[in-house]
Amino acid sequence: MMLTDLKKQVEADLHKIKQQPSTIAIVACEQKYFSRKTGLLTQLLKGVKDLPVAQRKEFGEQANLLRHRLETQLATLKTACASGNITKQADLTLPGILPNIGHLHPLTQVAEELMDIFVAMGFMVYEGPELDNEFYNFEALNIPASHPARDIQDTFFIKTPIIRQQDKMKFAKDSKWVMRTHTSNMQVRMMQKFKPPLRCIIPGRVFRNEATDASHEHTFYQLEGFIVDENVSIGQLIWTLREIFRKFYKQEVKIRLRPGYFPFTEPSYEPDMSCTFCDQKGCKVCKYTGWVEMGGSGMIHPNVLKAAGYPAGKYTGFAFGMGINRLAMLKYDIDDGRRFMENDLRFLKQF
Ligand code: PHE
Repeated sequence: MMLTDLKKQVEADLHKIKQQPSTIAIVACEQKYFSRKTGLLTQLLKGVKDLPVAQRKEFGEQANLLRHRLETQLATLKTACASGNITKQADLTLPGILPNIGHLHPLTQVAEELMDIFVAMGFMVYEGPELDNEFYNFEALNIPASHPARDIQDTFFIKTPIIRQQDKMKFAKDSKWVMRTHTSNMQVRMMQKFKPPLRCIIPGRVFRNEATDASHEHTFYQLEGFIVDENVSIGQLIWTLREIFRKFYKQEVKIRLRPGYFPFTEPSYEPDMSCTFCDQKGCKVCKYTGWVEMGGSGMIHPNVLKAAGYPAGKYTGFAFGMGINRLAMLKYDIDDGRRFMENDLRFLKQF
């Protein structure tokens, strides 16, 4: 076919598409001119090399110009069709184009789910400062400076904290600054602020000066919960944990308390939950024990109630702390906790 004829045909086709733009028509047009074997322009361009040298340059330039014009015109029409700018003759049989909508991070989703469960059970939700003083993170929790337990949690100590005016936090002048190692830093604050009966949870970010691996992060999320009232019992602690995990994992679970040690609870327990993956038959998640560790807990130590200024002997309470990252890993069978912090969309989009 002659170049001039082809030009005419291209213009006629473009004109037609512009009258009734549709993705189908655009694709058909692309096929007609650019298809690898039968495309009219493809064939024309292929023929360039067989032309006499004198004509080759001029012809090649013209043919390429035509190709360029057709390509850009079709691309523009395509974008217009896709963005819905052309609604007049839109092809309604094509699947719609889904907008890219963001969503909450899986850890936020898990935290919100837990909050809903606790709130329905009458707990109030508070957050606390991530940068705190040693008093609330340690001292008030029965961990004096000389106490070896300070080394249990590898602490980030901060030399000169900059505090924003609007935070209006009151700190003892001579105390040292730390990135909170646990959400337990809110226990005494809450007790100072409210009188029993007190039922609250504290979700939040905590920090440990630790090397990162599949099950350790230097920055992770915890959820603290505690109740202070008259006659609070261990039975209530067990019931509460079972109820929370039952609702969160949407199946019946068993709770077992192993003796543990935390300076701010006495007695202290490490609660285990029956493995939700294998129904206690044994699997890699529970390391073939049928039980998975769910954090720390215990009855609030009298020294903590004392630090809060409560009258001696009047109240008792229980407290627990669980890792939100860990709960999420157990819920979704994620075997490497580092995934949460990498911000890899291929991972995040699954939630
Ligand atoms: N704060 C403890 C930790 O981070 C967990 C805990 C909370 C234990 C409340 C007992 C009571 O390891």
